[in-house]
Amino acid sequence: MFAKRSRPLASTLLAAFCSFGLLAAAPALAAGKLPHVVILATGGTIAGTGASSTTTVGYTAAKVGVDGLIAAVPELQKVAHVTGEQPLQIASENITNADWLKLSKRVNEVLARPDVDGVVITHGTDTLEETAYFLDLTVHSDKPVVIVGAMRPSTAISADGPINLYNAVILAGSKEAVGKGVLVAMNDQINAGREVTKTNTSTADTFKTPELGMLGYMQDNAPHFYRLPLRKHTSQSPFDVSHMTSLPQVDIIYGYGNDNRIALDAFVKAGSKGIIYAGVGDGSISDALKPALQEARKQGVIIVRSSRVGNGIVARNGEANDDKLDYVVSDTLNPQKARILLMLALTKTHDTKKIQQMFYTY
Ligand code: DGL
Repeated sequence: MFAKRSRPLASTLLAAFCSFGLLAAAPALAAGKLPHVVILATGGTIAGTGASSTTTVGYTAAKVGVDGLIAAVPELQKVAHVTGEQPLQIASENITNADWLKLSKRVNEVLARPDVDGVVITHGTDTLEETAYFLDLTVHSDKPVVIVGAMRPSTAISADGPINLYNAVILAGSKEAVGKGVLVAMNDQINAGREVTKTNTSTADTFKTPELGMLGYMQDNAPHFYRLPLRKHTSQSPFDVSHMTSLPQVDIIYGYGNDNRIALDAFVKAGSKGIIYAGVGDGSISDALKPALQEARKQGVIIVRSSRVGNGIVARNGEANDDKLDYVVSDTLNPQKARILLMLALTKTHDTKKIQQMFYTY
């Protein structure tokens, strides 16, 4: 059992208000039946501990187990029947393809149970956006899947984990979240798994969907949606990884002034089946890199032009003659998410026309 910790001031006040009924009561649910939400804990800062209540950097991630996370937020019991599992206990920079396959398989198994209404995954924030998109493409259920993390460890003053977890459980148990794909609920905001990205190294509002916008808010114990995801996901996705034990190797090279072909050649030599080019601007390729990419394509490596910029569409046949060179463009996917889609695409085809259509569909 996780050692008792000094509850952050905010949680203590919240508990006090709840016990005196000063806060709005937990949402009254139809017929009084609470939804059954399963929490799959994987580690990260939300499960992190620091040397003191003022330690917000230099703490240790992935220390508190799922029982400790649930026990730290007794308010959960008012909004859902919560059960927990611990499929991983890692700092998320260490997540692997095998971890994603394991997590996706477990989420599908749990959601297939008729007694389960939704799933919350607690996760480190460093690769949270990649896990969100991987599950958006491989979970085959319309039931809510909500990923949540924190930017302050559980031991910190005003830790954001407890309120984030509370809101994530409400969202995962809500009817409003059904059929909307994998969602990320942090900082009172609801973002779509395909577009959300980490935009700040350390602040609590780090997860955003720049330009295209979040889907809605968590407020007053309830979700409030204002947009819907348009790309296909979850039950509309063709990617079934349930029997896979590995994924094709896809790597990312980064474009910059005065770049070179060293990294690309090394990846190709190491057996990469796909390369995501995190290009400058609209995926522009330097004269130094052009021949290396063409040689890699001729060796059968799939090349996807993405961009380091972070927003906008990488236009086909814009900064390169993709038709002639047989390259794919990432549309609006950032490089790390383009890698997720290309890995899954390569489990089904090496036909670049079909792969390009996947980047326009998911
Ligand atoms: N090591 C980072 C991770 O597990 C900590 C960041 C966080 O979880 O907020 O992703």
